[in-house]
Parts: sequence; structure tokens; C-alpha cells
Amino acid sequence: MKKPLIVANWKMGLSFAESIRLAEEFGRTLAEQMSQKEIVICPSSIALSDIRRLKIGLKLGAQNVSWELKGKLTGEVSAHDLVSLGCEYCIVGHSSRRQYLGETDKMVHEKTKACLFAGIIPIICIGETWDEKDAGKRDLRIIEQLHSVFKDLVVSDNKRQIIIAYEPIWAIGTGQSIEPTDTFRVADLIRHTLRDFFDQSIIDNQFNILYGGSVSGKTVASFFAHDSINGVLVGSDSLRMDLFKSIVDNI
Ligand code: PGA
Repeated sequence: MKKPLIVANWKMGLSFAESIRLAEEFGRTLAEQMSQKEIVICPSSIALSDIRRLKIGLKLGAQNVSWELKGKLTGEVSAHDLVSLGCEYCIVGHSSRRQYLGETDKMVHEKTKACLFAGIIPIICIGETWDEKDAGKRDLRIIEQLHSVFKDLVVSDNKRQIIIAYEPIWAIGTGQSIEPTDTFRVADLIRHTLRDFFDQSIIDNQFNILYGGSVSGKTVASFFAHDSINGVLVGSDSLRMDLFKSIVDNI
């Protein structure tokens, strides 16, 4: 079995000072679990370099990246700079960016490309809205998103990882729970769809699938009941040490 991956997406939930304090607490509290579990924190980009200097033993991820490697995009951060800030991971296409900041499937494709080029592991978020689910279009939307990310994307057989986070938009930050069997079904659909683009050995060795959406200490174990889910992406409950620890403890 692969090492479970737990990604904390702090979004804009903490100030700079709070981020540093919580990162230190994460480092102290989770130190013993780091050898069995891969724990990644994704703070706001301004806190990355200070958190790196704390040397707390946790992996670092960014919440966003530019699709350009260098250029004129005011306010954006390049994948190469994220590497120099210590990031090994980057969340790409989070639903809040798609919903409120106009991020399109095409941008998600380009950002994934930029991450892979710079040597960052992309955590690509996909998922359906409630209306799409209600209309029986969940699977179609998942396939559509995967096709636009991976069409014409070269993934060399070099053990570089790619992570897909299945996050139903209706379950994010709402406390609404999803049936774990539904997440296993979607994970199977994702692996099946990836076969349109990659050899089975690349899918088995280089791809991991996470679930995200109102994950808590109470629900987390149910997502690991089947080995099709390799980890979780946690928003709200990653902002408090006790709640996040309960998630890590229960995996
Ligand atoms: P949530 O957020 O855990 O608060 O639902 C998950 C996410 O947005 O990645």
C-alpha cells in the first residue's frame, strides 16, 4: 500500500503570523507520524519561505501557480520560484479558483504543464457541482475535466508523480458528506479515463488520487476503506491543530 497523503489547504484562512505559529505546531505535534504518512501543508504563498526556514519536516505545497514560466503576468508566481521557495507540491484548479477567479480547464492544463516542467507535483482538483450531480452528469464532467487536463500532455515514464484530487464542489466547506463508495467509484472512473492517455504502468506508479470535501477526523477512515483513494485534501479542519491531528491520527 502507498503511504497515505494528507494535504492541508489553508486557503486564505490564516494571517502570516498565524501561519507560522500553526506550522510550528504541526511540526511539533505530527513529528512522530511523518515517517508513515506524507503530510503536506499549503499555506498562502507569502508564508512559504518562512515556513521552509522552520525546518519542521513537513512537505510544502503552493495553492496556485502561473501557467507562464517567466514573463509579464503581474502578481503571478512562477513554478520555478515555487521550487526555490521549497515547494514540492502545488494545488492546481481548486474549485474556488475555477468558480470565483475564472480559472478554465485550459488554464488548469497549462498550469499542470508548468508544474511538471519545473519538477513540482501537481495536485489537480476536479469535481462536479450539485446541479451536475443532480442532472446525472457527474461522470461526464469528471471525464471532460480529465480530458482537457491530459490531452497532449507529455508525462514521461520517470516516476514523477501526479495527483488528482476529486473534490465534489457541493461537499467543499459545507459539512455535507459523500458516500465513501461514491468516491471509490469516481476514483475507478478517473483511473479508467487516464487509460485514454497513459500506459497502465504510468497510471499505477505515478498517479495518486485524493478525496477532498468536508473531511474530518470522524469521516476520514471511511475514505481509506478501499485502496483506490490514496489520501485526502483538507480545508477547514486543517486550520486547527486538534481537528487536523484527529484526521492524521485516524488514518
Ligand atoms: P473543506 O475544503 O475540507 O473545508 O471542505 C476542502 C478543499 O477546499 O480543498
